[in-house]
Amino acid sequence: MNMLGIDIGGSGIKGAIVDTESGEFASERLRIDTPQPATPAAVAAAVSEIAAYFQWTAAIGCAFPAVVQHGVTMTAANVDDEWIGTNARQIFASQTGNQVIVLNDADAAGIAEMKFGAGNGQAGLVVILTLGTGVGSSLFIDGHLAPNTEFGHLVIRGKAAELRTSDRARQAKGYSWKRWARALSEHLQYIEFLMSPDLFIIGGGVSKKSQKFLPLIDCKAKIVPAQLRNRAGIVGAASAAADLTRV
Ligand code: BGC
Repeated sequence: MNMLGIDIGGSGIKGAIVDTESGEFASERLRIDTPQPATPAAVAAAVSEIAAYFQWTAAIGCAFPAVVQHGVTMTAANVDDEWIGTNARQIFASQTGNQVIVLNDADAAGIAEMKFGAGNGQAGLVVILTLGTGVGSSLFIDGHLAPNTEFGHLVIRGKAAELRTSDRARQAKGYSWKRWARALSEHLQYIEFLMSPDLFIIGGGVSKKSQKFLPLIDCKAKIVPAQLRNRAGIVGAASAAADLTRV
């Protein structure tokens, strides 16, 4: 089944039609700059522009960088505060005229990795971390998602872990790979203390440089790079939309 997936990020909003059986794109990827300020109304207009570009009339999956419960965005760590308590599903649906599902961006990326990437066929407990502007997380138990885990906001040494372990923090603080891997190891060890995962999958743009830092990581669980790279959010969002239309 083909579905439209849209990945909403701090700098870009990216959409593509996805073949949800293969996880491959069935169209080119369209990227538009995230409007600034990224208020709900402005982002809804951008989502609608992408749907119109693809002349899309079926369901749309939208990945969003916040806790999302029943379509409502509950937090705003790296987005406009106006999102807190906003019914994103409702405003996207009324703006586009389509059926819409909204889910956390790391949960979307995790869905894609579990179906088509590094987590395919993996039983037990899997934690996926996306290292980008913030740190997103998703948790799977025998392939089932437990949504909105927010492990990026675990407090380590007095502050949110993502302030040290995001890729943005690595660049902003000028950390060496070794220094960053030390911070990331501490973050992973804390997650291990809480959850004892069987596998960590590390995603986000920096995962393409995984050979620079994964060998330096000190944790008990197996750890592998994500495979879908920057397609993961779009593919996972489209998969979620496909599930929506199956029920
Ligand atoms: C947000 C998460 C999001 C992650 C990655 C964090 O700051 O709290 O909801 O998944 O960034 O975008």
